[in-house]
Amino acid sequence: MTKFKFQSGTKAYFGKDCMFDNKGDLIKLGKKAFIVTGKTSGKTSGALDDVVSIFEGVGIKYEVFDKIENNPSLENVKLGGMAAANSDADFIVGIGGGSPLDAAKAIAILATNDIEPIQLIKNDFYNRPLPIAAIPTTAGTGSEVTAASILTIPEYETKMSFVHEDVFPKVAFLDAKYTESMSRDIAVNTAVDAMSHAIEGYLNKTATLVSDMFAIEALNVFGECLINLGENNFDYETREKLLYSSMLAGLTIAQTGTTIAHGIGYSLTYFKNIPHGKANGLLLTEYLRFNNSVAKDRIQNVLNALKIKSIDDFGSYMKKLVISDIEFSEDELKKYASLAMKQKNTAKNLRSVCEEDMYEILLKSLG
Ligand SMILES: [Fe+2]
Repeated sequence: MTKFKFQSGTKAYFGKDCMFDNKGDLIKLGKKAFIVTGKTSGKTSGALDDVVSIFEGVGIKYEVFDKIENNPSLENVKLGGMAAANSDADFIVGIGGGSPLDAAKAIAILATNDIEPIQLIKNDFYNRPLPIAAIPTTAGTGSEVTAASILTIPEYETKMSFVHEDVFPKVAFLDAKYTESMSRDIAVNTAVDAMSHAIEGYLNKTATLVSDMFAIEALNVFGECLINLGENNFDYETREKLLYSSMLAGLTIAQTGTTIAHGIGYSLTYFKNIPHGKANGLLLTEYLRFNNSVAKDRIQNVLNALKIKSIDDFGSYMKKLVISDIEFSEDELKKYASLAMKQKNTAKNLRSVCEEDMYEILLKSLG
């Protein structure tokens, strides 16, 4: 058998009311919490109220920082980090989609380290971050079970990630009732992000036996949701399956990271404000076609798990989920191709890729 490393630092609870049933794992993190969330998701999902009621029931003090933007910038997490440091909090609670959960990891580090946020990207910090509890309100990011955080860096005109084992959330509560307030578009885009994590983790030079197991099961479960997702039918069972699939996909990329669909997609988000999952979704079909010459069997495994016959059928299905009428100039696509080459995850793609390949994928996907 091949050698592998498997790492996860998160105790994850799944199921309806799992946070109330297991609140001991939340309240043991300290006497004061700094809650990191977005402007709306924490409140509309009901998760923020539930956390507050648990804290008030046992006398834990808390401060709410609800200023996390979509695709949080270094400046945004710096603000949160300063507020967290001034709050004397013992732990961080992240509530929301990928943006608040990723920001929570950055803020957990900035709360205990007097550094500039750009240093996060190089893991250049010295003190242990505050412990983190994570409560996802979307079914897509998987951030609740990973040690990765994606931040927007205007200086580099892109999003970049840092990964550090000390920011695995100590505990995560995955309750599908918190995903019920998502709009159709957010539900679909985040689901596509999760599928993209499973696919890119599986078609990845660093894939292992264990990451493959998580990836294929994530895709199996996602495959059970395809019809409902295509018909915008988000019943509770489908929401639970999507949340479960996104967790499995998160456990996949916690081992492997992503590849070029994410690497290219960051530019679509940075320059055109296309939501992250949708950006991946627009690229996935051509990404599969590009890799098919070196990974035919593995791509067939992906399609089998999804219960889709061919890459063409996959493309037809994706067009039902994500479409874009945004126009791109040749110069824009060339710029995105160049920026994608600089992403760390490019080297993990199964088929070696050059800038011209990136451009072709972009042109076929968006041109
Ligand atoms: Fe993603």
